[in-house]
Amino acid sequence: MEYEKAWLKYHRLSNYKDCTFFCCIYVRESDLVIETAIKELQLAVKEILGIDCDRIHNPNGREEYNMNSGIYFVADQSIQKEGYHIYAKEQVIVIQAGDSKGFLYGVFELIRYLQRNQSVRNIDYKMEPDIPYRMLNHWDNLDGSIERGYAGNSFFFQDNEIMVNERTRMYARLLASVGINATVINNVNVKDCATDLISDMYFDKLRAMASIFKEYGIQLFLSLNFAAPMELGGLHSADPLNEEVRTWWKEKMVEVYQNIPNLGGFLIKADSEGRPGPFTYGRTHADGANMLAEAVAPFEGLIIWRCFVYNCQQDWRDKVTDRARAGYDNFKPLDGKFLDNVILQIKNGPMDFQVREPITPLFGALHHTNQMLEVQIAQEYTGQQKHICYLIPMFEQILQFHTYLQDQKDTIREIISGQALNQKNCGIAAVANTGNDSNWTGHDLAAANLYGFGRLAYQKDCTAEDIAREWVEVTFGSNKEMITTITDILMRSWPIYEQYTAPLGIGWMVNPNHHYGPNVDGYEYDRWGTYHRADHLGIGVDRSERGTGYAITYQEPLASTYNSVETCPDELLLFFHHVSYTHILKSGKSVIQHIYDTHFDGVENVENMMKALDKIKEYLPLAVYNRMVPRLEEQLRLAKEWRDQINTYFYRKSGIIDTKNRTIY
Ligand code: GCU
Repeated sequence: MEYEKAWLKYHRLSNYKDCTFFCCIYVRESDLVIETAIKELQLAVKEILGIDCDRIHNPNGREEYNMNSGIYFVADQSIQKEGYHIYAKEQVIVIQAGDSKGFLYGVFELIRYLQRNQSVRNIDYKMEPDIPYRMLNHWDNLDGSIERGYAGNSFFFQDNEIMVNERTRMYARLLASVGINATVINNVNVKDCATDLISDMYFDKLRAMASIFKEYGIQLFLSLNFAAPMELGGLHSADPLNEEVRTWWKEKMVEVYQNIPNLGGFLIKADSEGRPGPFTYGRTHADGANMLAEAVAPFEGLIIWRCFVYNCQQDWRDKVTDRARAGYDNFKPLDGKFLDNVILQIKNGPMDFQVREPITPLFGALHHTNQMLEVQIAQEYTGQQKHICYLIPMFEQILQFHTYLQDQKDTIREIISGQALNQKNCGIAAVANTGNDSNWTGHDLAAANLYGFGRLAYQKDCTAEDIAREWVEVTFGSNKEMITTITDILMRSWPIYEQYTAPLGIGWMVNPNHHYGPNVDGYEYDRWGTYHRADHLGIGVDRSERGTGYAITYQEPLASTYNSVETCPDELLLFFHHVSYTHILKSGKSVIQHIYDTHFDGVENVENMMKALDKIKEYLPLAVYNRMVPRLEEQLRLAKEWRDQINTYFYRKSGIIDTKNRTIY
């Protein structure tokens, strides 16, 4: 399959003012990653400025002011790992970094200045990333399909073979350019051939892939099958306290690390949605994770253990069991029981990547456990990369959220950066939105989520809006009207998607299995624990202390805020409370009128978005616009479908008419 270079497709600048800086690169010592940084800089300078930027050995390792212009790589141990300081002085640009990855990230920052035609004459910019692991999770299967993939098939796997080729390198370049330093290439649901990834069938290809990644400062991780001792090793058990099982894992990891020395470690989905796990043997998740952690510890490996553990065999009649509580109930009691090379990976919300969910209370509840936030840029519930839904504003809110874990340093960002609890094995992971489509993400605007995830994770001082604008500029160029229009569309797209889909934090209401398109009762009488409980009088799940008690698993003052209908924020009201359709929201509208209004507005907003894009289409590459048009039409079609199904459903249930008398069926 053909592939494009996304935001790394460089455009020639004919009028760049500061070309003289880019004549040469002075480097003292080098290694694999610094070599990559040099090559990347040379490539960009050649393609953007048309200059052959020579590499010159600099024996002093210092910047030589006033003497020779150029870019100097200067090692500086005072700069934190993976950080850099870029500044200009006279004719010289200095990139200082504390380690080789810092040079690589500094180079990509400098390249962005060129891509955006910005002067570097007064550049003085220092960035030290706070989140240690910035990771992608691909849900790619070995047959080439992708679970929740909306951009074609896998570019890692095909017909149970691993593919390592030039696209692998392009992928690594894209990740490194936005600061992503780790990736899991296979689906968390490890079945069939994927179990064999830790066998000699696949070692050669994995080693080759890991070494390409290493050039770009990226560590390869794999998802693991907890039952591998049985399925691969022929044992009768996978019990984490069984000596034979433990020995099997230890020996297996020796073999794996001998063959793939750069492997970062493993991601594990256990006792979740039918996957095997320690519960089968009456053991805890700490028993399971620690067994694996001991096996990888000699190789400095990490075990990333997912907390997406809940009862997926619920009876819809049961109003006591609450899926939202499951993460907290399962993992809070295990706080402090995990080894230091275990990280718990926790989804942002307590359910599953809905358009709006509260932040999971588990983050405020763990004091002695390494944590990693899991978000999803694959748009499973947010329009499946046919609809525009820029998710970085949501992630920004998540990262800024105060958990009240302790008096200070209690935001999600402070927890997953390790600052809150003084930890080093922490991070953020996004379920990836890529596939082998030529533009990587299906919808061209979905690339903003991939780019934005990396940038938000790396660059602690950047807003979602800065990132959107930056992505538009590095991808589509410098026309002001175009930049403003697309940035504005991206920034409004998540709220608009929320307007025409499930209201006020209730979520779901999608077609079962594939999760695309409206189906209000699709999950209402099912076993997945995902209910809206609507009747003729009202809607919502009572998760207050009178209901499932979920609300009071938060730290104060969050518990009280969510527990009361009066103080619960409108956008989460139906997640926490069952209220009548005539209940008046803080906005002054009744619940039912809010439902009608937002659904009519949502469709209108999609129409406006399409008109706005049409106006600036001449500034977009024709191929990009042509790919976008059918998706925009599909977004409008489905927004109308959502509007009409939701409005009609609630009109029929409640019998309450729309005060504005619009068409409801
Ligand atoms: C969701 C998603 C599944 C996925 C699961 C997970 O339920 O629909 O496809 O496997 O999340 O995160 O493990």
